[in-house]
Amino acid sequence: KVGMNVQDLAKLLHRDATEIIKKLFLLGVVTNQNQSLDEDTIEVLAADYGIEAKQKEEEDVADIDRFFDDETINEEALEPRAPVVTIMGHVDHGKTTLLDYLRKTNVTAGEAGGITQHIGAYQARLNDKLITFLDTPGHAAFTEMRARGANVTDITVLVVAADDGVQPQTIEAINHAKAAGTPVIVAVNKIDKEGANPEQVMNELMAHDLVPEEYGGDTIFVQISAKFGKNVDQLLEMILLEADVLELKADPTQPARGSVIEARLDKGRGPVSTVLIQQGTLHVGDPIVVGNTYGRVRTMTNEKGHDIDAAKPATPVQITGLNEVPLAGDRFIVMADEKTARAAGEERAKRAREEVRNAGSVVTLDTLFNTM
Ligand code: GTP
Ligand code: MG
Repeated sequence: KVGMNVQDLAKLLHRDATEIIKKLFLLGVVTNQNQSLDEDTIEVLAADYGIEAKQKEEEDVADIDRFFDDETINEEALEPRAPVVTIMGHVDHGKTTLLDYLRKTNVTAGEAGGITQHIGAYQARLNDKLITFLDTPGHAAFTEMRARGANVTDITVLVVAADDGVQPQTIEAINHAKAAGTPVIVAVNKIDKEGANPEQVMNELMAHDLVPEEYGGDTIFVQISAKFGKNVDQLLEMILLEADVLELKADPTQPARGSVIEARLDKGRGPVSTVLIQQGTLHVGDPIVVGNTYGRVRTMTNEKGHDIDAAKPATPVQITGLNEVPLAGDRFIVMADEKTARAAGEERAKRAREEVRNAGSVVTLDTLFNTM
């Protein structure tokens, strides 16, 4: 099954093939150089050389989570990466206005030109340093992604309107950030407005363990006007400062893996997904498993709609080439070849269907008992 012959084994053990054949003969096995050996014979032979031959454990192709849990990251290959930021806050406190301002003024994507696309994430640049913003404000997206195991956010920017103060969804956002373990930077917004009271916001937030540095705490507060862009650069600076503390690094040499930010079906192009690369480098042509879907990266574009060939950690890209539309928060991993990717994707889809069926039958049973 392993398909190892005497020659392969000789190479592996740094021995001469004839020596191996001789040993095997003494063990009662008559063989030649090209004959493949069974696992037991290999084990006995290796033991004779003082080596323990472990049979490779049967891998579950469908288990792509193992690639996220394993600690095979090569420390020496680690490189700094951009922080991934989510903006949260109460309704109408200015999340979209802030994201739009950043998109208009700081969006990079390298070359000039191109029309900015709404792909669910983008990168802003300050002094040649990149910041990745998830363009899906709202707690639902954040929670849904976390529920699927995707912990992509490094820093939460909490937007609080200075004329409205702490509101129910402000508190919700704080709790989400706490649960996810991400540091919070407070953007006190709408300071241009009459009746704006930033001090009041600071006082209210102290009750929720967000204590500004000037009051002896360690939470960064920036007073901004998202509408007029006031102090937005300062906010970016603070995000980069916080990112430095976190020492965010990733290994670009690995097969790429990451998470889906959003996905939809495009009439012409088929399933279109925005993914965030978390480790490794993603290339056009890579065989890939994404949640319960699979395929080969057919096209890859950045937020300006420009085609790119490769993307490094913390970069959001839009890809096509999957067989189905994955879900936000699904994890993806690049596989060795298309066949493995397909096998893994199909097995995952099958298991998902079975799960739904099983859940369905439980409900039926439940209903049955309840109506008895
Ligand atoms: P939801 O998506 O509904 O939760 O709201 P949001 O947090 O995205 O708020 P949005 O950016 O839509 O802003 C709500 C309103 O506040 C809009 O009319 C904005 O123009 C206004 N606004 C946002 N930021 C500022 C600001 O800095 N100053 C002033 N004066 N108005 C602002
Ligand atoms: Mg909005």
